[in-house]
Amino acid sequence: MNVLHVCANPKPAEDSVSKQLSIAFISRLVELNPDAEINNIDLYQDPPPYLSYTAWRGIWLAAFDPTHKVTKEEAKAAEYANRHAELFNQADVLVLTMPMWNFGPPAILKAWLDMVLSPGRTFDIGLAEGGGLNVRPRHKLRSVVLLVASGGVYTEGDPRDALTPMIRSAFAFVGVQNLRIAWADGQTALIFGDHEQRKQTALEAAGDLAEEIAADLAPSAT
Ligand SMILES: Cc1cc2nc3c(=O)[nH]c(=O)nc-3n(C[C@H](O)[C@H](O)[C@H](O)COP(=O)(O)O)c2cc1C
Repeated sequence: MNVLHVCANPKPAEDSVSKQLSIAFISRLVELNPDAEINNIDLYQDPPPYLSYTAWRGIWLAAFDPTHKVTKEEAKAAEYANRHAELFNQADVLVLTMPMWNFGPPAILKAWLDMVLSPGRTFDIGLAEGGGLNVRPRHKLRSVVLLVASGGVYTEGDPRDALTPMIRSAFAFVGVQNLRIAWADGQTALIFGDHEQRKQTALEAAGDLAEEIAADLAPSAT
């Protein structure tokens, strides 16, 4: 089992609830599956560029227009996308660790998605017979696991939550419907007296998700 863990949190684990969820998830997964290969990407150590016009030409235009001659600058901009797409395409499971910031994911995570979820890398795209888009995955991802912490409390489908719908839609677009979430909400200690209990519940949920993933990807289940 190949697991790609992408962490979009600049804080050390002792100050980050979402990072603590990732420790709970990965340690349980490795306990159950000692052969799991875990590739860790810390986006604050290996930051993606924001999509510029040059990067767009190197990444998107080059994929759609075979006559486009990629310049040296454009090729340089595409280097990050190529390197990370290679890791992405090897993964069976993608783990995303992040806080909720301004009701969405950290900008650095969005920038990473803009690099990696690009045509000719993690998927191919064309017109479907009868209209619409035909997206063909190049990756072999079976599940995405989202480990998130937030100061406020959110119920499922909360209209203030722009984080989980965005992640769900982005991965559904490239053919991954299986999104599992462990969410430590209510982490603002000043407001939520039960923040510690909420964290413990989410840590247990992260461990349970690891068990589900290990069972899903066990050789007999494939
Ligand atoms: C810049 C910033 C924006 C935030 N925006 C939100 C928000 O929109 N909704 C929310 O519930 N909490 C928000 N919070 C609180 C964090 O989500 C909360 O502290 C969470 O525990 C952070 O995750 P971490 O402990 O893994 O770093 C924000 C915190 C910061 C620093």
